[in-house]
Amino acid sequence: MKVTVIGGGGRVGSCAAFALQAGAIVSEIQILDANAEMAEGEALDLLHGSSFTADQRIYAGDYERAADSDVFLITAGLRRKPDESRLDLINRNVALFLQILESIKSAGYAKTAKVFVVSNPVDILTQLAVEKLDLPWQQVIGLGTMLDTARFCSLIAEALELAPTQVRALILGEHGDSMLPVWSSATVNGFPLSGLDSCSPSFQNNIFQRTRGSGAEVIKRKGGAGWAVGVAIRDVIHAIALDQKQLLPVSSLVQGAYGVRDICLSVPSVVGRTGVEKHVELKLWPKEHTALQNSGRALKETLDKVQR
Ligand code: 2OP
Repeated sequence: MKVTVIGGGGRVGSCAAFALQAGAIVSEIQILDANAEMAEGEALDLLHGSSFTADQRIYAGDYERAADSDVFLITAGLRRKPDESRLDLINRNVALFLQILESIKSAGYAKTAKVFVVSNPVDILTQLAVEKLDLPWQQVIGLGTMLDTARFCSLIAEALELAPTQVRALILGEHGDSMLPVWSSATVNGFPLSGLDSCSPSFQNNIFQRTRGSGAEVIKRKGGAGWAVGVAIRDVIHAIALDQKQLLPVSSLVQGAYGVRDICLSVPSVVGRTGVEKHVELKLWPKEHTALQNSGRALKETLDKVQR
């Protein structure tokens, strides 16, 4: 599988490329960036480690060379300022994103290609990609709340002194202010977290607030996320590459699940070789269901303001 990382010269793109190299599943990684020198540098740095890592082809290239990609991973974009919400980014990033889509279209792409959006505001930009590209909606995927879910599970594990890989707890909805925690199905090694006295309502609220503020917290300290978003991206691409049919909180065009329609946001989605194969309406608590519908409404209000 060939992945082209558009924005691969930046922090998110280069961390994603390294996670894919270390994951050793994809066969080809192209680094594409407006800063061609930086793209060459990242590709060279990754290539240098390939003899100790995996037998992959890694190089820098342009949109023409990317035309045979199986996955176009779009990470390019301006980062949010610490006091700026992701949706505030919208006016600055939409123009750039539409240019990227035009470049992909003019160079050409396979009808089986997947477009995987990470740039923020990811749900809005995923929706624009669905509208502008001649691809089935199943093949246009946004990272959505995958990163939030990773943070959520990791922070729960740290606080409860549990193994992070055994904590399973979803964040759904918008990758942004209206995201919602799904405590109803949160487990540790299959046991409900609600069975732990330490998992009190105040604990739950504290962990969720920390999760929701994690993006801004990382931006304030180091300028922007890299490592965690890289492995979140890796897991989605591996689900496609290996046809894993993993149930993941990725963003795609929701068409009725949970009463939400015609907006991109994260609901439990089966991800495999063809992209998002289906949405699965896992049972939620009433307050979680309401919060998910509110998230859909918030995103629709923003989408209505986008010049597209
Ligand atoms: C974050 O939450 C990059 O939006 C991403 O850090």
